[in-house]
Amino acid sequence: MGGTQHLGPSAHWRRKPRGRVAFSRGLSTKLRSNEPSEPVFHAGEAPSFAFSFDIDGVLLHGAKPIPGARESLKYLQDNNIPFILLTNGGGKPERDRVSDLSSRLGVELTVDNFVQSHTPFQELVGGPKGLGDKTVFVSGADVQKCRDIAHSYGFKCVVTAADILRDYPEIWPFEPLLESVYGAGARPLPRPLHTGDHMHDDTALKIDAMLVFSDPRDWALDIQIMVDLLLSRQGVLGTYSAKNGDRSLPNDGWQQDGQPLVVFSNADLFWSTTYHHPRFGQGAFQAALDGVWRKVTGGRELVRTSFGKPSAETYRFAERMLNEHRTKILGRGREMAPLRRVYMVGDNPESDIRGANEFASPQGTEWTSVLVRTGVWRPERGEPVHKPKMLVDDVKAAVQWALKREGH
Ligand code: G3P
Ligand code: MG
Repeated sequence: MGGTQHLGPSAHWRRKPRGRVAFSRGLSTKLRSNEPSEPVFHAGEAPSFAFSFDIDGVLLHGAKPIPGARESLKYLQDNNIPFILLTNGGGKPERDRVSDLSSRLGVELTVDNFVQSHTPFQELVGGPKGLGDKTVFVSGADVQKCRDIAHSYGFKCVVTAADILRDYPEIWPFEPLLESVYGAGARPLPRPLHTGDHMHDDTALKIDAMLVFSDPRDWALDIQIMVDLLLSRQGVLGTYSAKNGDRSLPNDGWQQDGQPLVVFSNADLFWSTTYHHPRFGQGAFQAALDGVWRKVTGGRELVRTSFGKPSAETYRFAERMLNEHRTKILGRGREMAPLRRVYMVGDNPESDIRGANEFASPQGTEWTSVLVRTGVWRPERGEPVHKPKMLVDDVKAAVQWALKREGH
């Protein structure tokens, strides 16, 4: 694998009195003659490098910390080396996920150093094209939680499949989903559906954007409603655009009549859990929707936007948060040396490695990709399509390699 080095088993840490954490070399490397007793950074110094850690497959398998994860984060925190957690996971409010992660990983995390798949959706609220005052359809695993998150970001009018199904059960002709599944979270619709009975479009429910916060549990229902909206006139649910299939129009008239944006929060086909093979992620849901759309339109590609790793929007958002976090914990009101390098430690070549390799930082920070063997990528699945700068066993080895590379 060109340009990728391999590192063996990981390092071992010994804690010294508060603030002085010695970093002794691991079994795989010769002990250094001068056993480093000095701390890597004294309080107040600002290292010119930082870390960005993926979560699933690097720090956790499901709810279980991966060996070495806790010590690695603790070591960095004790030595004032900034890091953020950058995950394509989502579906819970940032504050709830952060408190859960803090207790699982034994370090104090805050929303300042935590970016999940939909966190950048906050940037869709304001501005001239902002959606804050528009009506958005939200999809996700726990869609009531996703509605709450959307409200907390500033989206004022949020509609879910449960709301639609409750008032119009015929929209999904199979036996209506159990009251327990949808009933509890359903809310009254802001407007009735267009039922075709000479209703005026402007009296019916119009959706301006579809936001997928996390993988919906009922792909079929969400795909039905999302395709209904993609075929509609101006996002008015229950209508059908006369432009659809019109070959005199661009894209044969598909998605040419003010239909709502489709915005996904990540494109992960697989992700790493406690099961011994990677599981389908939101990228699989996207592929299902793509496949249905291609069937419906005679082969047209679905026009959509995807946030999350590897998108540049997400890496830009993460870099900005990392810089703000670094200033907050180390700046102490003084000018700091710029952040020169970020080590992106991930398990998925398609998201973590590709994103870091392709990201062109607006401030010239170098993102160095480090692939671990504890997640989605497995050697038996062939060479990673996106080559990491370094291939290591686990997160501990990743931190060891990076610190050594930074001369510590
Ligand atoms: O849904 C979680 C999955 O997409 C991957 O999360 O932490 O590996 O980016 P992560
Ligand atoms: Mg991962």
